Amino acid sequence: MVDRRPSSVLISAEQLQRRVAELAAEIRADYPENLHIIAVLKGAFMFMSDLVRFMDGSVSMDFMAVSSYAKGTTTSGEVRLLKDLDMSLDGKDVLIVEDIVDTGLTLTYLQEILRARNPRMLRTACLLSKPSRRKVDVAVDYVGFTIDDHFVVGYGLDYAEQYRNLPYIGLIET
Ligand code: IMP
Ligand code: MG
Repeated sequence: MVDRRPSSVLISAEQLQRRVAELAAEIRADYPENLHIIAVLKGAFMFMSDLVRFMDGSVSMDFMAVSSYAKGTTTSGEVRLLKDLDMSLDGKDVLIVEDIVDTGLTLTYLQEILRARNPRMLRTACLLSKPSRRKVDVAVDYVGFTIDDHFVVGYGLDYAEQYRNLPYIGLIET
């Protein structure tokens, strides 16, 4: 197995917790009732689990899984739906929760297929954004941190399925 441990910490666990709490408050203020949150597996699992713990009031959750990176750090530009939602989105206030928006291809695909299911509202929260890498212009309503063009791991994000468990965001040299 490859071992390329993160060479440095980009965003500490404390910084993540503080920012995720702020995002939760902001989202809850915009949508005080009945928010339906969709986490995009696997990368968003930790972000979603902290985000909802900072929210008061009613929240329902569902999960979907897509694959955009075969292995390693290069994008194929191709998105595959690996696991679909369990629940209907009809008439719901829906928030997509993603780990990172890079080229924007994955999120564009997700927004298109979910919008077709008639939610009342569809918004997106991404923990991280790399605007310099964007290939398509995609709307992201809530962004945790904007970062430079680095490959990052931890807090749900992987390199070849490793490092998702780190409580911070670290840099991988590519
Ligand atoms: P996009 O379609 O290029 O925007 O890629 C989005 C997906 O690529 C994310 O959901 C991640 O799974 C993955 N990804 C992009 N950049 C990184 C990174 O720096 N570290 C880990 N995964 C990444
Ligand atoms: Mg990934």
